Amino acid sequence: MRIYIEENYEAMSKKAALLVASQVIINPKSILGLATGGTPLGMYNCLVEMFHDGELDFSEIKTFNLDEYYGLSKEDDQSYYGYMNENFFKHINILKENTDIPNGKAEDVLKECEAYDEKIKVSGGIDLQILGIGSNGHIGFNEPADKLNVKTHLVNLSQKTISDNSRFFANKEDVPKQAISVGLETIMKSKKIIMLASGKSKAEAIKAMVSGYVDTHIPASILQTHSDVVLVVDKEAASLID
Ligand code: F6R
Repeated sequence: MRIYIEENYEAMSKKAALLVASQVIINPKSILGLATGGTPLGMYNCLVEMFHDGELDFSEIKTFNLDEYYGLSKEDDQSYYGYMNENFFKHINILKENTDIPNGKAEDVLKECEAYDEKIKVSGGIDLQILGIGSNGHIGFNEPADKLNVKTHLVNLSQKTISDNSRFFANKEDVPKQAISVGLETIMKSKKIIMLASGKSKAEAIKAMVSGYVDTHIPASILQTHSDVVLVVDKEAASLID
């Protein structure tokens, strides 16, 4: 695992954007796996700037997001569909039909999950997966547990995740308690993975993630067994790495 320790959030975001940009330049038909949350916002901003500067072309890029809150519709501002559109897609020349996010309003969730895995498989799989990390070590919404899901699934979010995510919602009661998340197969079959982490609240999870042990209670620790992971962290998130 290659680890880049950057001075601060801005530098982390820039480095991550450069890594994504290289992928887009090397293969303009790449399949990108995308994450939401607070951490990648700076990276998306940098990519949008590079696009406006004429440096990047997303017209043939395809994307699959890691997850979506269960129960939120596409129209909901707080949905990850809304997030992606607002923070990235509407600013670049990606084609709507080339972007995919699980449907949080699916009536038949099992069918939705199976169909999502199938679409990823048919596309040829993820070339570059972007990941954040939960303060509890989750990736996607693969939460700490005795057993981890291989396939896309409906997940009950942990209390820790619900409380971490509450910062994005005006009312605590509105914070979704379930999500549809890809499983570890999609993540681990990605050809390359970039993980971003920023801030002290991620330091314990990052330390555990590079510990030399795989622990299902730190789902991110499985990334140690992937052959092409780049970890881009700021100094605070890296502060507990030995
Ligand atoms: C989001 C996702 C999550 C987040 C993680 C960190 O699509 O899959 O794993 O990456 O919860 O979230 P932030 O960046 O808000 O700290």
